[in-house]
Amino acid sequence: MTIKILDKKAPDALIVPLMLDNALPDRLAEIAGRANVDPGGLQRDFLGEQKEVFVVYASGNPTRRFYLLGLGKKNDFANMLAVTRSFCHRYKAKLPLKTGLDLRHFPDAEIARFTDAAATGMSLGLYKIGKYRAEQNEKPAPTFGSGKSELQILVPAAALSRAAAAARRAEIFAAATQQIFDLTNAPGNRKTPDIMVEWTLAAGREAGFDVRVLGKEDIISEGLEALFAVGKGSPCPPSLLLLDYSPKNRKEKMPLIGLVGKGVTFDTGGVSLKPSANMHLMKSDMGGAAAVLGTFITAARLQLPARLIGAIPVAENMIDGLAIKPGDVIGSYSGKTIEITDTDAEGRLILADALSYLLKREKPDALIDVATLTGSIIRAIGYFAAGMFTQNDELAAKLTRVGSRCGERLWRMPMWEEYGADLKSDLADLRNFTGKPMAESISAAKFIEHFTDGHPAWAHLDIAGMAFGDSEFAQGKSATGYGIRLLTEFVEEMIEAPLG
Ligand code: BES
Ligand code: ZN
Ligand code: ZN
Repeated sequence: MTIKILDKKAPDALIVPLMLDNALPDRLAEIAGRANVDPGGLQRDFLGEQKEVFVVYASGNPTRRFYLLGLGKKNDFANMLAVTRSFCHRYKAKLPLKTGLDLRHFPDAEIARFTDAAATGMSLGLYKIGKYRAEQNEKPAPTFGSGKSELQILVPAAALSRAAAAARRAEIFAAATQQIFDLTNAPGNRKTPDIMVEWTLAAGREAGFDVRVLGKEDIISEGLEALFAVGKGSPCPPSLLLLDYSPKNRKEKMPLIGLVGKGVTFDTGGVSLKPSANMHLMKSDMGGAAAVLGTFITAARLQLPARLIGAIPVAENMIDGLAIKPGDVIGSYSGKTIEITDTDAEGRLILADALSYLLKREKPDALIDVATLTGSIIRAIGYFAAGMFTQNDELAAKLTRVGSRCGERLWRMPMWEEYGADLKSDLADLRNFTGKPMAESISAAKFIEHFTDGHPAWAHLDIAGMAFGDSEFAQGKSATGYGIRLLTEFVEEMIEAPLG
C-alpha cells in the first residue's frame, strides 16, 4: 500500500471516520449534501458507534460512495488506529485499489497524530496471517486488499506537510509491525534460535543497525551460564544477540537507551513441563525480543537521534536428557549462583545474563527489559495492560504517559523488598522460583533486579498478557506487536526530555 496526502479531490470511495459527538448531525448533513442524498436517513440510521460502518452512495454516480466509519466517543490515537484497522480488515475486499480517507473535519492539532494512526491502522488491516498456506491468492480481482493499493488521506491544506511526515512515520511503524507479526506468529519449528539469529542479522542490515552474535562457544567461554543452562536441552543452541543503533548523523548529546528482550523461541517448560492444552501458544515466548527488534527497526528507519543498545538472549526451552533439572544449581554471568526450583521459570534466567552482560559494557541512561515472563501478570491485570516494575518514579511516569498516549498501556506493580524474600536458597545465592503460588510476577521482577547492578533507571515490563492475543483479525491468538510503539515513542520522549 502506498499513501498519498492531499487536501482536495477525493477518490470515488472515501472513508469518513466520525466521532459520536454533538457535531455528528451537522457532519452527516454535510456528507449528505456531497452525496446529493437526503440527510434524514443518515441522521436516523448512522449512530457513530465504535466500528460502525454505513455506506452512502452518491445519487447519480454508482462508483462514488462514502464509508461512514464510527469512532464512538473516544477521541484518541489508539481508537483511531483500532477502528481503521478493523474497518480495513473487514472491507478490504470491497474497496477499490484507490481509496480515500477524509480527516479534514478534525481539529488542526490532531491531524498529524490521526494521520499516523489511520495510516497505521489501514496498513495493519491488510496484514495476512496465513503465511504457510499452500494457496496464497484468494481474490483475483484487484481490490484494496490485493494489488497495488493506494490510500489517499485528505487533510486541511495547512496541515499537508505535517500529515505527510506522519504518513511516512506510519509506513515505517506498520512495516516493522508486520515483520514482527510474521516473526511472532511463526511456529516454533520455523523460528528456532538459529533462525532468529539469521532474521535479526537480516533486519539489522536492512534497517541499519549493528548485530553481533554470541553463539554457543562464546556463551560458554564468556560464562553466560544461566543462558546456556536454559538452552542446553535443545538441539539448537542458544545465542545472545547484541544490537547497536546510532543515527548516521550523530549528535553530541544523545540519550543512550538499553533494551533487553526475552527471546524464548518455544517454551515447553522444560522438565517442569507445561500442561499440553495451551502449550502451542508458547511459540510467542519471544514477544519481548520481538518488541525490542521492532523498536530497533523502527528507530533505525526513522533515524532517531539516540543511541540504542540491545541484548536479546535467544533459547529454546526443551525437555530432554541434556536439559536442566529441578534442583540443579547453575552459575550466571554475574557470578551469582542459582538453584533451579522450576525449569519453567526460564525467562528470568536468560534475562539475568543478558542484563549483566549489557551492564558490564555500557551504562545506559535508561534500561528496559521486556518479557512474556509470567502467567501471574495475566491473573493480576488481564489482557489490557502490561505490568511495569521499577523503583524509579520518573521513569514510571514517563513510560506510563507514553503507553497511554499510544494505546499500549502499562500498569505499575509494587517492588517492595518483602516480595523478594522467598528467593533465598539454602544451597545457592538465589533460587529462580519461590515455590509459593502468589505474586509470581513480582517475585520474578525481584529476581531480575539482582542482576541490574543497582541501575537507577531500570524498568521491567511483563508483557505475557499483551504480546499474543485474541482479536477480530485471526481465529486463534495472534501477534499484537505490543511494545514497538511504546518503546519507540519512549525513545522519542527521552530525546525530548531526558530523565532528570
Ligand atoms: N513463558 C511463560 C510465561 C507466560 C505464560 C507467557 C502465559 C505468556 C502466557 C514463563 O516462562 C513461565 O512459564 N512462567 C511460569 C513461572 C512460574 C514457574 C514461576 C508461570 O507463569 O507459570
Ligand atoms: Zn516458562
Ligand atoms: Zn517462558
